[in-house]
Amino acid sequence: MTALYAMPGNELFTELLIQRGGHVGHELHLHQFPDGETLVRVESPPAHEDAVLVCTLDHPDPKIVPLLMAAATLRELGATRVGLIAPYLAYMRQDTRFHAGEAISAPIFGALLSARFDWLLTIDPHLHRYANLAQAYALDGRVIHAAPRIAQWISQHVASPLIIGPDGESAQWVSDVARQLDAPFVVAGKDRLGDRDVKVHLHGIDPWKGHTPVLVDDIISSGHTMIEAMRLLASNGFQSPVCIGVHGIFAQDALEKLHAAGADRIVTCNTIVGDTSLIDISEDMVAALATVSSSAPAGPSETATAGAP
Ligand code: R5P
Repeated sequence: MTALYAMPGNELFTELLIQRGGHVGHELHLHQFPDGETLVRVESPPAHEDAVLVCTLDHPDPKIVPLLMAAATLRELGATRVGLIAPYLAYMRQDTRFHAGEAISAPIFGALLSARFDWLLTIDPHLHRYANLAQAYALDGRVIHAAPRIAQWISQHVASPLIIGPDGESAQWVSDVARQLDAPFVVAGKDRLGDRDVKVHLHGIDPWKGHTPVLVDDIISSGHTMIEAMRLLASNGFQSPVCIGVHGIFAQDALEKLHAAGADRIVTCNTIVGDTSLIDISEDMVAALATVSSSAPAGPSETATAGAP
């Protein structure tokens, strides 16, 4: 048996997992003291079963202390194993020391979570310099790919798509999506000059003038990567693109900026639930949860799962 506990803000996604997977949902309460400390209270303790915390990790810093407290408490109260479903996994982009003295955040964050969780399920973490999660996480970490669901959405909503990756790192996602659609794709180059300052270079798109441009990236954060790619497309005579992100973080006013820049449609997966999260990946998460729940306790590993049609 698997008991699911939704961290605040994750109730809708957890409910989908409960409905689709026939799991049991349990209440978890967080009380915030006047001094800002958090008290976690588990309403119904796990009975020698896997306890699973559901917590997507956009804007992670205020979430991490309550999450670690909850994990430790569930284990102490009798969970056989404690798992984490984090549809979006934070801190993966800082996988190297870009400038002298910087933290390499990915393995530091990985060590924090690995100390408290036995396993982790996540959707398309930003694996760039790392080949797999095991390079940053010492737990049974499993990756689910959103490409089949994204391809399915595009096939249902966009005629004659040209899939465009706004930077080299997106090649892994766009090539997968394009292959599943049997559609053409191009990948742009990007120089990041600051948090909100990027330069995108796009070549070789002229042959695809009659197609509908569909920008696909793993993360939309400040939105500037998408906005720069949109500007280039417009200056090359293309119609407004459909913008698709696996994870729609939309920091501050990013969504408004994207609309103002002329995005025809902005769509994301429900790894972070919001107005744009029209691509549902909960079925794939349920399938992966069934696999991890039935597996014996394991050491660090990496399993790629793609369950969509
Ligand atoms: C970067 O490597 C990622 O793949 C995304 O391109 C990036 O996080 C997008 O960030 P922003 O929306 O702030 O340009």
